[in-house]
Amino acid sequence: MGPPDKKPPFPVFDSWVRPGYHIVAGPRYDYSCNWLQIAENAQDPVHTAFLHTIVSGAQFTEEFGVVPELDYIETPLGLAYVATRRVGDNMWLRMVDSVLPNLMMVSPVWEDGKEIHPFDGPMMSRWIVPRDDRTTLQVEFRHVSDEQEVTPHWWANRVGMPGQMPDNRTYEQRQRGPGDFDAQIAQRPIAVHGLEHLATSDRGVILFRRQLRRGIRAVREGREPDGLLKQSAPVIPTYANDTVIRLPEADTLREDKLLMKETGLRLAKEYLKNPPLMD
Ligand SMILES: [Fe+2]
Repeated sequence: MGPPDKKPPFPVFDSWVRPGYHIVAGPRYDYSCNWLQIAENAQDPVHTAFLHTIVSGAQFTEEFGVVPELDYIETPLGLAYVATRRVGDNMWLRMVDSVLPNLMMVSPVWEDGKEIHPFDGPMMSRWIVPRDDRTTLQVEFRHVSDEQEVTPHWWANRVGMPGQMPDNRTYEQRQRGPGDFDAQIAQRPIAVHGLEHLATSDRGVILFRRQLRRGIRAVREGREPDGLLKQSAPVIPTYANDTVIRLPEADTLREDKLLMKETGLRLAKEYLKNPPLMD
């Protein structure tokens, strides 16, 4: 994206040089729609509840079916969502990185929040590459643990994610059990933003569009956009992760939501200050 002579050096993220992990190339995904409606997936944890669980039956784990408490933080890379869910006495924090302009780092979809564990890092890094305004190629690295049983076999063996491949399902099947592919393509080849009714749960999407606009304006004025070009460190920290801690429920639902939101944000800020994969 952008003029070839402005191509930044190939980045090295901490999640790519992580001890005990290796990288496997994922399948490639060709989508017939504009890149932005695919990239906006990464700022929208609400769709993991509705699209991936409530409407279609659990495509990931049942625990994704709870609409999370939501917050967002701007990172040196772009932004990350901070989604917290209650799983019994545990609080499950999930963060996904949107790296400007078109890379997403997504935490494991097999998480269920039942086992307490620290920051676990991403399961993949995926570029959303526009071929033109109406067609997009997705290219992915999968982060696979060298240890058995940490990364599921299907993920290590390059099996596609549920609902993400163009397939031969009928229109009715796709309506009854939609996945990301159906939701993204069905917005038209180029989604019309004027037809949207954005809600509080779309704050991440709004923030991302604002960051993109800021970048577009910067380029137009001859400046460098925010994002990777700013990074001078040889290894760049990332923030995508699931963290599960014990956090017994507060007295009322309202207090509990606030408790989770505050605890999630506190952890996210700690990660921003001391990125766990940089240790
Ligand atoms: Fe999704």
